[in-house]
Amino acid sequence: MSVFAPQRVRLRDGSEVVLRCFRPGEDMAAWCEMIRSCSRETLWRRFELRSPEAIASKPEEFCRCEPGSDHILVAERGGKILGEARLCLFPGGEAAEFCVLVADPWQGLGLGSLLTDTALGAARRLGVRRLVVEVVPENVTIVRLLEKRGFTFRRDPDGRIFFGEKHLD
Ligand SMILES: CC(C)(COP(=O)(O)OP(=O)(O)OC[C@H]1O[C@@H](n2cnc3c(N)ncnc32)[C@H](O)[C@@H]1OP(=O)(O)O)[C@@H](O)C(=O)NCCC(=O)NCCS
Repeated sequence: MSVFAPQRVRLRDGSEVVLRCFRPGEDMAAWCEMIRSCSRETLWRRFELRSPEAIASKPEEFCRCEPGSDHILVAERGGKILGEARLCLFPGGEAAEFCVLVADPWQGLGLGSLLTDTALGAARRLGVRRLVVEVVPENVTIVRLLEKRGFTFRRDPDGRIFFGEKHLD
């Protein structure tokens, strides 16, 4: 059973989106369209790649879903995917990596917060005890968003990456 039961949520502009589990195969074309609607900066912050085509040409690689360990949540409206969040459980399932992306046209409407909170709730239900995240240091938006939710950050020794961590109760 999916860890993300479908739910309707309202964005800051009053519009509704559905948060639901990613459907491999069926959602791939819409996922690639989402990637193409992202700025190079957004893609860099999420994938450390700037070219939409480098990602959209290999969707299977970027949407690999290992049953039981990879959980992708998408925000969908009218067949379009506006954003996604992921939990990738490490072997044993006690820890997971978290990441989130909202395509540029829909940023600033509360969707990143909604995806994050939904993924955190799912992580708890899955019994995950520790969440980790890696971000580029200039990504102040996600650092603030996650610090508000109890993540703490430290820089790696060469300062290239911020590592974030949160222990779940
Ligand atoms: C980080 C990201 C997911 C946030 O998504 P979003 O839908 O814009 O987020 P929200 O609208 O929920 O806003 C979250 C907070 O960030 C703030 N924020 C949003 N865009 C911002 C910007 N460009 N500059 C500064 N703050 C910003 C909001 O004011 C809000 O703060 P609040 O909770 O105090 O009100 C989105 O910017 C994104 O996809 N970035 C690129 C990918 C990325 O960085 N992923 C994280 C690495 S895994």
